[in-house]
Amino acid sequence: MTITQRPRCDQTPAWAALQSHFDGAGRSLDLRDAFAADTQRFATFSQSAPHVFADLSKNLIDVATQKMLFDLARECRVEQHRDAMFAGDKINATEQRAVMHWLLRSPAVGAGKPLATESQQVHSTLDAMLAYAEQVRSDLAITDVVNIGIGGSDLGPQMAVLALDGFATTGKRIHFVSNVDGHELAAVLARVRPSSTLFLIASKTFTTIETMTNARSAKQWFETQGGKDIARHFAALTTNVAAANEFGIDTTFGFWDWVGGRYSMWSAIGLPIAIAIGAAGFRDFLAGAHAMDGHFRSTALEHNLPVRLALLDLWYRNFHGFTSRSIAPYHSALRRVPAYLQQLEMESNGKRVDVSGQALPFGTSPVLWGEPGTNGQHAYFQMLHQGTDVVPLEFVAVKKARHELAGHHSQLLANVLAQAQALMLGKADAGGHRHFPGNRPSTFLLLDDLTPASLGALIALQEHRVFVSGALWGINSFDQWGVELGKVLARDIEPRLHSGDASGLDGSTAGLLARLRNA
Ligand code: F6P
Repeated sequence: MTITQRPRCDQTPAWAALQSHFDGAGRSLDLRDAFAADTQRFATFSQSAPHVFADLSKNLIDVATQKMLFDLARECRVEQHRDAMFAGDKINATEQRAVMHWLLRSPAVGAGKPLATESQQVHSTLDAMLAYAEQVRSDLAITDVVNIGIGGSDLGPQMAVLALDGFATTGKRIHFVSNVDGHELAAVLARVRPSSTLFLIASKTFTTIETMTNARSAKQWFETQGGKDIARHFAALTTNVAAANEFGIDTTFGFWDWVGGRYSMWSAIGLPIAIAIGAAGFRDFLAGAHAMDGHFRSTALEHNLPVRLALLDLWYRNFHGFTSRSIAPYHSALRRVPAYLQQLEMESNGKRVDVSGQALPFGTSPVLWGEPGTNGQHAYFQMLHQGTDVVPLEFVAVKKARHELAGHHSQLLANVLAQAQALMLGKADAGGHRHFPGNRPSTFLLLDDLTPASLGALIALQEHRVFVSGALWGINSFDQWGVELGKVLARDIEPRLHSGDASGLDGSTAGLLARLRNA
């Protein structure tokens, strides 16, 4: 059976069984009744995985639903698809590429074994990249590092550098510039000096227009400000080393076409993380992710956390019809995790056709969104508790605090527990306005401590969950054709902003163009 021939979820007996189960008792499961009827519910619906404990018990499932969902995963041959990814098969069928970001965090593969060549390349690049990171860390003349990149070349490193701020053992300031909006780069350049700044140009393709525009402006600024020695002050992180050399950068760290942009922070794209937390910290980060890879690869579906999460996602999206999921990290250092997950899930699974190009008759990626939890509580949680839509919430909490401020952490933890409880229990009130319907589902992910290893595991968990959802939906989670059209149109429009030529444009674009050109 080839990659495109795997059964799609809606064509399986399990899907039909799930549909009739949903139409019967499934849709009206009440969490309060479920807990009252089963004192073991927490144990049955919780799952330990490396560095992450998950309480799934406040979700709208019972044992019967879960059993059908596991049947569905087997009938869709999710395990075979997973094994194909770990074997290095070209499961990114539309681009004819393997999907091997997991190899970036695997120990070296022995000579003669499958993927030994790729593994050897990974480890020699990793060693070189980490040696460079240590060199930068000990270079006291460099005070600022500016990462110029966008999408996967920005969101992962930025999220991880923030998350691991407590492990940043260097005094260097790390800045991230992604937007082509010159305000962003100008604000950073106003705060740095050429002689003490290292620019990292991060781009898998080294063609992305935003990144190349920012990189050119940074280089021009460096030169006009009297900066010397591009080799010392610029490095490129890319699969396109030739283009980086042509751009004038000789210090390069490469990676490979089998690493998707949104899966690339484990590669040279992770250099800002390594500069922040050091080589040993970066290796711990990889090790945490590798531990989660092992869990995903070898644990039976019934105890496999990425699989259990993805099956819940499908149950909500395709049977309950919930269209979004909110992420609520109860740790301020995890504040960029929602943005990171938006790209991971929505760029991977925001697809409307299956791997063979057939239009799908069911929904795929939900909308992901969120903010740090206590901030969200004072903003949009009103809607989560009493709005007309049900939005499954994913809490992320960390047991241990790494600060000494009395009283804060217990308040934070009390809040996350209370929110999950309130969503589920609700509160009856005859008056209407004060009535909380309850029975609103949530998942609770708990880390003992926020460390490089636990962050690596948490992110690898999310990667594999997205993989499983995509496998169930029968889509290719590893291409992103949907971002292309806008890029092409922007190339056509940009010169028109200078010339005013509106020929062939639709009425709205022509009208806006004229307004933008008016003095
Ligand atoms: O436009 C989308 C995208 O291709 C993402 O998939 C990618 O992470 C981002 O652009 C940046 O691409 P690059 O690293 O090649 O500059």
